[in-house]
Parts: sequence; structure tokens; C-alpha cells
Amino acid sequence: MISSTMWTLTIVWISSLLMSTQAQATASLLRGNDRSGRCQYSFTVASPTEASCPSVGSGPEMESLKSRLGVLEVLVARLAGGEAQRTVAGTGLQEAYNQAMGEKAQLQQDKDRLSQQVADLQKRVAELQKEAERLRSRPCQQPPPPTIPQHDTGLRPAAGPAPSHMVSRPSRTQGDTSSLRDPSWQYGGPGYQELKAEVAEVPALTPGLTEVTTGCGELLYVGEPVTHRKADSIAGKYGVWMQDSEPVAPYGPGMVWRIDSVGSEVRQLFGYEDMEQLSRGFPTKVLLLPEAVESTGATMYRGSLYYQRRRSRTLIRYDLASESVAARRDLPHAGFHGQFPYSWGGYTDIDFAVDEEGLWVIYSTNKAKGAIVVSQLDPHSLEVKRSWETNIRKTTVANAFLICGRLYTVASYTSPNTTVNYSFDTATSQSKAISVPFKNRHRYNSMIDYNPTQRKLFAWDNFHMVSYDIRLGKKQ
Ligand SMILES: *[C@@H]1O[C@H](CO)[C@@H](O)[C@H](O)[C@H]1NC(C)=O
Ligand SMILES: *[C@@H]1O[C@H](CO)[C@@H](O)[C@H](O)[C@H]1NC(C)=O
Repeated sequence: MISSTMWTLTIVWISSLLMSTQAQATASLLRGNDRSGRCQYSFTVASPTEASCPSVGSGPEMESLKSRLGVLEVLVARLAGGEAQRTVAGTGLQEAYNQAMGEKAQLQQDKDRLSQQVADLQKRVAELQKEAERLRSRPCQQPPPPTIPQHDTGLRPAAGPAPSHMVSRPSRTQGDTSSLRDPSWQYGGPGYQELKAEVAEVPALTPGLTEVTTGCGELLYVGEPVTHRKADSIAGKYGVWMQDSEPVAPYGPGMVWRIDSVGSEVRQLFGYEDMEQLSRGFPTKVLLLPEAVESTGATMYRGSLYYQRRRSRTLIRYDLASESVAARRDLPHAGFHGQFPYSWGGYTDIDFAVDEEGLWVIYSTNKAKGAIVVSQLDPHSLEVKRSWETNIRKTTVANAFLICGRLYTVASYTSPNTTVNYSFDTATSQSKAISVPFKNRHRYNSMIDYNPTQRKLFAWDNFHMVSYDIRLGKKQ
């Protein structure tokens, strides 16, 4: 037991301590009983150097933390969604967990790959320095052509000098590897492109079908993915990017649009004058959408962005010229927010598509028991013109798109070597199993859309905005 005299001494000592600091104005002494009935004294003193405390504000760390929080929110929302559907609560939880672990493994892989690339580049720089030394010592000789670094970057090398944005890009996060990859562009003269063209695979065409270079046909072949841009931050792990196949003034046919979809309030639409500006990461237009976007199902068609409003079955047509909502309509009976997503999850319940025959939406309903329903929409009013029910479960496929009125589904979003393995023809309501090889080079493909003017597929594969050439064929 401590005597009262001792306490008095202690208090006097504490008081003198307080008096001697600069902060007595904000110091306070508290007294109270603890659980065992003893007196407890505590005092608080403001830090004399406030600047040493971490300040709450912006800055790159905060931004990165916010992005990470966004990802966590998505996972938590998924967990909560899984809870609501009691029948699948266990699997929902397991899925979310698996996804989180998958992402962790993926980040580790990315890190390892980047370390490898750094090592390769350092080696390359050392080699080039040696080469330069050697050439300096024998100035009259013809310099040999530099060899091409063999990274599997998926980047199409551009002719000409390295892009100047390498030094002027304002903010770069750890996830951005373009600065590591860009040096390889220097060696990408026209010769390299020719080399690539020569080694491109020639696919065996389906017997009975002859390739058509214009007009409609069945999907015969999907080419190698070509990367146009890698997203800088975690917000761009998945998203949607597109070009309008029938653009309307003030935007031209080269305009590229992009939405980074990680986060709970996705409302930013970035516009780039052309593919090159996208590759450089310089948007010329940033639009703030009046309603948040759900997932990666949006598309661009005839001067409007079509998208699903967050946590609803409401379809929105956002007119780019007037920068306002031009039409909104509920998609009758459509499942949303995790009811019938693609196998990837991510609330990919409602997916817009454009092809030679117009605007479509791919989804499912309770009545269809989770089978893919495809509806053709009136692009002006968003009214359903006609619907088809297929016999393939939406949650078992990685993604879907339409070409010439035919629906195609991709088997896996993670396998680097998967197939387009099913097609459904709206003209005949017939479905069939097919097997067209398809590559998810970065193993996390969150969006696949067809562009009928480009005759290409656009996809978003683990931070990478990629495109694929396709070939169509016809019975002759
Ligand atoms: C396509 O692949 C998916 C995923 O592997 C599988 O569930 C489905 O049965 C396949 N469909 C056909 C028609 O082969
Ligand atoms: C991918 O599939 C093709 C044909 O389906 C096959 O020839 C090739 O070996 C596969 N590659 C890998 C890495 O599995």
C-alpha cells in the first residue's frame, strides 16, 4: 500500500514536471478508481513537436491506402452479399477468401516478375555500356544492330524514339511497370515488327468454313493479345475500355474510353484522343458520371455510354455530347449485384455488348434459373426488343460477347490457354460447342467486348488493356 504522504510527493513531482515543459496549457491530470478500488492517476501532455505527428491529408501514401481500402470494400461487400444468400453463404465466403488469396499470389508473382525484369534490364544496360566502350575504341567500324531483349511483355513495339512521357509522367506507383518496359521500345524498329509477323501462328481453320475478311461469319480464330496500356494503380486491376464503333461528334473514331472499376463509387470516365495517348496515359477528357457504375459491363455506342447503375438493374444511357443522362430503364427481372455474375464474380451480372446488329445486353433472371439471357435493346430508349434464353449457366463462363448476332462464351478468365467453347446463334436459337483457343496472358481477365468496326476483341486482363484480332469464316 502506498501511503498518502507518498502520493502527495508523487503529485508534487508530477506537477513540477509539468511546469517545466512548454506544454502545461494543454496538460491534464486525471484521477479515478481502478477495478480493485485503488486510486489511479494519469496525465496527458500535448506533444511539443506537433509536426512530428503524422498529418491526416492527401499525398501518395493516402491515395494508395484509399485504393487498397476500395479493394477491401469490394471484398467485404462480396462477403456481405454472400451472407444474404444463405444457401450459398459458405461458398460465397470461400470464394471471397480464394479470390483474396489469389490476388495475393498474383501480387507476389508480379513482384517476382518485376524483380526479374529489373535484373534483366540492369544486365542489358551493363552490356550496352560495354558495347559502347568497345565501339568508342574502334570508331571506324560499322556498329552491329542491337539485339532485342526477350521479355514476354506483350507490348507491340513502336517505331521511333522512346516516348518522352517516361520522364514527365506526374505520378507513378509501385504497380506501374511501364517505366521498366518502355526501354524495350527503343529497339523496336520496323524490323522487329516484321519478325513478329513472320512467327505469328497460322491457325488451322475449321473444316468447311472459308475465312471472310469483310461482312459476317462465325468466329474461327482469336489472335494473340496486344497490350495497349497497363493501369498505374490498384484501381485499375480490373475495368472496361472501349472505342465507339459508330462515333458521333464531337468525338472522332480514334477516341478511346476507359473506366477503372475497382472501388465502391466508380464514376470517372477517361477519354483519350487515340490509342497512342492511351498508351502514354494522357487523357484529353475526364467525365464525372452522375450515377456510379457497376463492374465492367459498360459499352460505348453511337455517342453514348451504356452502363448498369450500381446495385440496381437500371440501365443508363449517358449522352457524351450533352454530358447528361439521356435514358434510363430497368432491365426486367435481371439479376444484379452478385446474383448471376460471370465466374470471375465482381458483380458482372449485366454486360452490354455491341456487334454488327446493334446493342445487346447479356444477363440472367430467376425465371431462366441462371442461364444466360441475351436481349437486343433499342439503343435510344433502352427498351428490350427481343430476348433469347440460352442453355448455358452464366456463373460457369468467364465472359461473353456477340459477333454477328452470335453469342460466344469464354471458358476461363485465369487460364493463360483457354478456349471460346460455346456459341449461340440468335438467328436460329441454336447453340453449339466450339473450341477456339483464347489467351489470358495476365491470368485475370475481367472484361471482353467485341468492336465490329475494328473487328477486334477488347479485354482488360489484370491491369492490362489488351486487344485481340479475330477471324471470321463462312460456309461457301
Ligand atoms: C465450357 O467451359 C466451361 C468452363 O470450363 C464448362 O463449364 C462448360 O461446360 C464448357 N462448355 C462447353 C459447351 O463445352
Ligand atoms: C495451348 O494450347 C495449344 C492448343 O490448344 C497447345 O498447342 C499449346 O501447347 C498450349 N500451351 C500451353 C502453354 O499450355
